[in-house]
Amino acid sequence: MIVAIDGPAGAGKSTVARRLAERLGFRYLDTGAMYRALTWLAMQRSLPLGDGEPLGELAQSNPVTFDEGGRVWIAGTDVTSSIRRSNIDRNVPAVARHRAVRAVMRERQRELGHQGDVVIEGRDIGTVVAPDAEVKIYLNADPTVRARRRQVERPDIGGDALATDLRLRDQSDAARMRPADDADQIDTTDLQVDDVVTRIEELVQQRLAASRP
Ligand code: DC
Repeated sequence: MIVAIDGPAGAGKSTVARRLAERLGFRYLDTGAMYRALTWLAMQRSLPLGDGEPLGELAQSNPVTFDEGGRVWIAGTDVTSSIRRSNIDRNVPAVARHRAVRAVMRERQRELGHQGDVVIEGRDIGTVVAPDAEVKIYLNADPTVRARRRQVERPDIGGDALATDLRLRDQSDAARMRPADDADQIDTTDLQVDDVVTRIEELVQQRLAASRP
């Protein structure tokens, strides 16, 4: 079974998706980490981020991998912490918008997503990567709350700068941030993580029960 969790930055996707995968005993796939890792590598190699074709080739020849401990690797380097820095936050939308990059990522994500039960988080999982996902969730939250949540993860930058970054990222990601028509939408503004996880877990159990003969 595939559980797709989409939504904007700070809506709670990562925390919810990880905890849900743990509870269900499913694998967890963080597609944002793949775009982040590619951005890290492109910056490391001083490639211009406005040029799609070379970035698509870079992605093709340097597949992102996740090890048993969930650490993120690209080109032989463990980039798990480097990809969470604010310079990556700011540059990743420029990389993720290229068609050539998305085509490579989409295929790789499909490959990784079709190896048994999995929770996949991203922006376009329910719409593009796995339109056949049995459960599709779109998480959202009030922008102020989303910025506050990000602030906890990025203590190195001020609240105003962070809110601006988030707004700019929303604008760049807007084209892909659309809930699938058949997604269940959850507003996490006033919800605790465990409440969201429980709600999704119930949907998963319902779908599992419905699919049994
Ligand atoms: O979820 P995140 O913040 O780690 O995602 C990083 C960036 O990658 C985000 O700006 C949008 C992009 N992204 C995407 O375009 N498609 C995905 N499936 C996942 C992330």
